[in-house]
Amino acid sequence: MARFITDGFHHVTGVVSDAQRTVDFYRDLLGLSLVKKTVNFDLTNTYHLYFGDAAGSPGTLLTFFEWPNAQRGRFGIGGVHHIALSLQDDVAQLRWKRRLTDAGVKVTGPYDRGYFSSIYFTDPDGQVLEMATAGPGFAIDEPANALGHHLIVPDPSRLPAGRDEVTIAATTWPEPVQVITADMAIQSIHHVTGHTDDLESAHDFYTSALGLSLVKMSLNQDDARTKHYFWANYDGRTVRESSDMTLFGWPARAPKAREGTGQTHHVAFRARDDDEQIAWRDYLESLGLHVTAVRDRKYFRSIDFRTPDGLLIEIATDGPGFAVDEDPGSLGRALCLPEWLEHSRSEIEAGLRPLI
Ligand SMILES: [Fe+2]
Ligand SMILES: [Fe+2]
Repeated sequence: MARFITDGFHHVTGVVSDAQRTVDFYRDLLGLSLVKKTVNFDLTNTYHLYFGDAAGSPGTLLTFFEWPNAQRGRFGIGGVHHIALSLQDDVAQLRWKRRLTDAGVKVTGPYDRGYFSSIYFTDPDGQVLEMATAGPGFAIDEPANALGHHLIVPDPSRLPAGRDEVTIAATTWPEPVQVITADMAIQSIHHVTGHTDDLESAHDFYTSALGLSLVKMSLNQDDARTKHYFWANYDGRTVRESSDMTLFGWPARAPKAREGTGQTHHVAFRARDDDEQIAWRDYLESLGLHVTAVRDRKYFRSIDFRTPDGLLIEIATDGPGFAVDEDPGSLGRALCLPEWLEHSRSEIEAGLRPLI
């Protein structure tokens, strides 16, 4: 049976405790577009909010379930540690550091990670976010046509003992940044990083189930006792943007992730269309994975299954997209419900706090 290769991330979904606070943060502070305001189709008295670029393109989408009374989540084995968002360059990154800091958000970095530069902060529920520069990319220490073949030990200047933390902390943009200019725009999901206690099994999973390739074997630059592996859509020449899943290799018996607010619920990868998704589902079952039936999520179709560590993975179709029930110029304005919930609209609306 043919192997399938995902084009990259479709969306990442997290859990938040307060929908309005989430809109204030992701739309108003980070400048993402709220492209769909709907409810969790499996729990219809709670919001499901979609943020991304203005069109809601796959690879740009961060979505959130509002679970007001949920416990606080925790990263760990089988969970996501952070979601990285892509910026065009380090000037944009410093402007973001200043904008976020002035808004009361604690920011660390910029750290030179070699393949990109990174700043880190958390959203109001504690989800760790990174803003990473698009380049220089993975070919700085290996040939572009032979990535991921050898363990790369980072330059000592990039490890904690070699870093000038005082200078890094003081580095920021000299002026306040009240307006998000076009050169600062968040471009896409840069990478998603989780934890595993079994890099070998994770490698088998990401290469066989999703068709990704190992593009870097290195060490965690904040804890060089542990490994850090990167997989991506890679054709032997180019690493496709917004396709990079990375894992820190933790020891066996390390704590498991716990579902809840501030923790990623699932990571969705792209399928081109319904036919590919259906064939992919058969292929995944042939690998022994337990895969859900195809579900209609209105804006895409999805199937779900789990990594060996327990992380929930979805494969979502690129279409039909977010303009299926709203004008492309006014996405996210109205509360949108799928046809099968329209008959309950008044009860659903009565149970939701309006968002501004
Ligand atoms: Fe990262
Ligand atoms: Fe999803």
